[in-house]
Amino acid sequence: MSENLVSELMNGHATDFVYSTLSLSDRRLHGVFFSGPSWAKKILSGQKMGKWRRFIDPSVGVGDLLIEVCSSLPLKSSVHKTIEDWSGRLVAIDLRKSFLDITWLRLQALAAHRHKTEKGQTVDLEFRELPEGFIVGDVLTIKLDLRKHDCVVMNPPYQRIVAPAHSFVGKGKRSAAAIHLEHIILQAPPGVGLFALVPDVLRSGSSYERFRKELKSIADVSSFESFGAFGIQADIDVAILAAVTRQPTNEKKSARKETSYLKKVGDFFDVSVGPVVPHRTPVTGQSYGYLTAKNAVVGKEISSPVEFANYACRLERGPLVIVRRTSSPSDKKRARSTLVTCSNELLVENHLLILKPKDKKISTCRALLRVLEDQGSDVWLNEFIRCRHLTVGSLKQLPWING
Ligand SMILES: C[S@@+](CC[C@H](N)C(=O)[O-])C[C@H]1O[C@@H](n2cnc3c(N)ncnc32)[C@H](O)[C@@H]1O
Repeated sequence: MSENLVSELMNGHATDFVYSTLSLSDRRLHGVFFSGPSWAKKILSGQKMGKWRRFIDPSVGVGDLLIEVCSSLPLKSSVHKTIEDWSGRLVAIDLRKSFLDITWLRLQALAAHRHKTEKGQTVDLEFRELPEGFIVGDVLTIKLDLRKHDCVVMNPPYQRIVAPAHSFVGKGKRSAAAIHLEHIILQAPPGVGLFALVPDVLRSGSSYERFRKELKSIADVSSFESFGAFGIQADIDVAILAAVTRQPTNEKKSARKETSYLKKVGDFFDVSVGPVVPHRTPVTGQSYGYLTAKNAVVGKEISSPVEFANYACRLERGPLVIVRRTSSPSDKKRARSTLVTCSNELLVENHLLILKPKDKKISTCRALLRVLEDQGSDVWLNEFIRCRHLTVGSLKQLPWING
């Protein structure tokens, strides 16, 4: 690996590349504003990294914070061993795989650079595949297996997004930074370190008072200080939070206990698409009740079918809930549903999604109807899926609100 490549990866080239490739509006959509080395240094200044076993950046970007962490981690006897060690100690998540690739390249370049300058070793580096802990996805839907002695470093996105039901961050659109922080601390066991660069309003705003109260009930906050404006493109005042999670002060009232919003429809229901595609699915001699978007009236219960057909494909038995796949953000209700109590074998058309209760109970189906009726579900679905079709994934992920 050439010295040029190493220095390009180490300094601001990765950020320049991303900023010149993505438009400002694209970057605003997911809060793509990287810390850079100077904020990374401020966030972690004075912290002894040696006491933590693993380092997790749940919205890693091009890795500025992990680069700062790894600048002071001890080196092993060879660059390969150091990279192996870091592979096991680093966890990185981002919506974009390209960001994870850049982060991992930069970290390997850093390892090579440090072995050369600190140990005088010349290094012939072959870049390795992404480590297991580098995950592409929406961190808000990922359960991080956080452990005592983990250290979370984060500069989360700052745009406003809809808070999940029962969130201690508040209702409606709130700072994504607060929602990301909440997601992390609610799943962290005691003894997890937390260093975060967040909008100053989380530290000072009256609308985030409950957030601060809950934070303090779950974590020992050693500092939460204002640091002025983030930068030219993101003209927002920021603060740095340093904390370590602990046993909640008031176990009964603690927000960590209120993790029910983490339960999803997919925890209670198997979700699939109706298998009958008219004119394509083969037919047989046998006739079964047939549910279609036309004959399954929204909001009604079906105890016996009104239409029959003889397709040869998967059959379903009630109790179950069917939801129309066609749905648009302009519709008042996004998940338009019908309860099917009929326990005979049934055919279901492809325009319908089928939700089968894992416990096979009608009462669980009725609870699902309440969830789908809740306005919060419409808000959540509008955020999660903007196109005109509901998907299996979106219904599985839907929070179990008031079920
Ligand atoms: C403000 S940048 C910070 C990146 C990096 N931590 C740093 O300090 O430079 C936020 C990053 O979070 C990513 N992101 C936004 N929403 C996310 C989500 N729901 N799950 C995972 N990553 C997300 C964006 O792609 C972006 O890279």
